[in-house]
Amino acid sequence: MRICASFRKTMASSFAVCRLHMRGRASLAKCLQKTDAFLHRSIGTDVVIARAEATRSDESDEKNGRKSLHTLHMERQEQAERSVLISCQSSTNEKKFLKYLSKHGEINKYFFYESYGVYAVVEFANQESVTSLLEGVAIPGGSHESAVPFKSRLLSLRNLGSVDSSNQLSGRQCQPQTTIPINELIKRLSREESIDKQISSLTEAYQLTEENSRLRFLVCSLLKDIATAYFPECTIKPFGSSVNGFGKLGCDLDMLLDLDSITGRNVKLPKSGLSLEYQMKRANSERAVTQSILSVIGECVDQFGPGCVGVQKILNARCPLVRFAHQPSGFQCDLTANNRVAMKSTELLYLYGELDPRVRSLVFTVRCWARAHGVTSSIPGAWITNFSLTVMVLFFLQKRTPPIIPTLDHLRDLAGPGDKSVIEGNDCTFVSDFNKIQLQSNTETLEQLLGEFFEFYATFPFSRMSINIRKGKEQNKPEVAPLHIQNPFETSLNVSKNVNASQLDRFVALCQESAWLLQQSETSTPRGGGAGGEGAPTPWGLATLLLPSQVAGIKSRKKRRREPASERIKGLLESLKNKNQLKKS
Ligand code: CTP
Ligand code: MG
Repeated sequence: MRICASFRKTMASSFAVCRLHMRGRASLAKCLQKTDAFLHRSIGTDVVIARAEATRSDESDEKNGRKSLHTLHMERQEQAERSVLISCQSSTNEKKFLKYLSKHGEINKYFFYESYGVYAVVEFANQESVTSLLEGVAIPGGSHESAVPFKSRLLSLRNLGSVDSSNQLSGRQCQPQTTIPINELIKRLSREESIDKQISSLTEAYQLTEENSRLRFLVCSLLKDIATAYFPECTIKPFGSSVNGFGKLGCDLDMLLDLDSITGRNVKLPKSGLSLEYQMKRANSERAVTQSILSVIGECVDQFGPGCVGVQKILNARCPLVRFAHQPSGFQCDLTANNRVAMKSTELLYLYGELDPRVRSLVFTVRCWARAHGVTSSIPGAWITNFSLTVMVLFFLQKRTPPIIPTLDHLRDLAGPGDKSVIEGNDCTFVSDFNKIQLQSNTETLEQLLGEFFEFYATFPFSRMSINIRKGKEQNKPEVAPLHIQNPFETSLNVSKNVNASQLDRFVALCQESAWLLQQSETSTPRGGGAGGEGAPTPWGLATLLLPSQVAGIKSRKKRRREPASERIKGLLESLKNKNQLKKS
């Protein structure tokens, strides 16, 4: 479920917009103190020591403008607990609305957005304000339909009095929750002066906003309120592109039902003396337990979850999940459980993205390019996934001279005792302290890297070699598959097992074409109507690469005058032409 297109207009912020990856956040220490106190109560001393270590390294990271994903999670989860989501009427007076809510306590932040109507996210300074607010909330009545009496923090604002037309919500500023359409992006990029600026501009336009990130954590928190009916200590955490730094506005919301505090994974048992243990029902395997939990929670989401529609239980998948649309946020949601390796790969991607700003920019650009040409798709199939593409970009950056990012094996070697993690026999250990990671000095520009990325994969020996970010070197393929990308943690798995030969061929052909286009001065320099110019600017540089017609095929280029491309690319284009001719004959 996506937010309707008419709401995609960029609207100004009602308060200063900062980004998910913003540097130097305030009130972190306060939040961590609370976190430690909570962990002490609910988990035990060992975890607190590990957390204290993490906190120290986080404090020094924060000085350097970086924080761990764990800290980000804690901070956002805590904000979400103090927040409510309110469906508003467009005739409501904004000032009155805030005044009405402020009766329950100080409001830290609020923002409006549109998704099947106008919604407000309101974050109070204190949790008690939410309790106080909910005490005064009425049960809906007066309809011919009966309501399921499940109370949540998703509310509707009713205005029973007269309508005040002087300061209506219609004048409010709404936060965009989806990306600008591709045509608009192409125009925007065409006005930039350099390809480097185009890449930064694309990243800026597509990345998740502060508000969108808050909304994602709020949806997790609302779902947690359903799951805690059965599992009071559980949490629901976002993973994947919602939090790994590579999420695009409108991307799906992957969630993990975390039961670790109940399953005993984090609890130390006494070694001697009397103790009690819970009697618990047993199933044949951990997978069977996950399936039964997701089945029940999925049923509750379907039957009781306000705003949750189209619930599908996909329990026989390799990773069982419940899929649904959360209408008030517009998010397509995937709820999984016991999926701790995916959380680790999310942490890893987040870490790589924080190491060097070029990582995120290149990933965003390649993902956007791939989507524009149908290399990736929102429908599952034989396409390359965004996750695979991201790993391919990381691998490419490890292969630069000198490398821009280290290998996963190197990150494992830098790990401290608190970083040790083995999940289902898989070594998922890697360093979490950014300060221990020494980067080499590589000064390549984004423009150079983009061109080199296309050349790299235009010539990669896919038929023989596997992509391996653990080693930072291609390895002999362990199995027959058109594209083999080793899963970073479950090393016997191929991340791109789904990709068929024709999709890989298309990807390679598009890389060849795009590399060639970037080498043409006609494409790689700004054309008329550049920055400040009037009218629709002529696409150039990255904007050209996003135009499907430009990267369409080699046939159309035969007639055009060519400039010398690199020898390698020329050879490749020749071989591709011959291949096409052979196919036709
Ligand atoms: N994942 C994984 N192995 C896979 C597929 C996914 O470990 N074969 C993990 C990754 O951490 C990934 C997350 O599951 O980030 C979510 O998967 P998916 O939604 O497919 O990818 P995203 O990275 O979230 O990208 P998108 O924006 O397309 O949703
Ligand atoms: Mg996802």
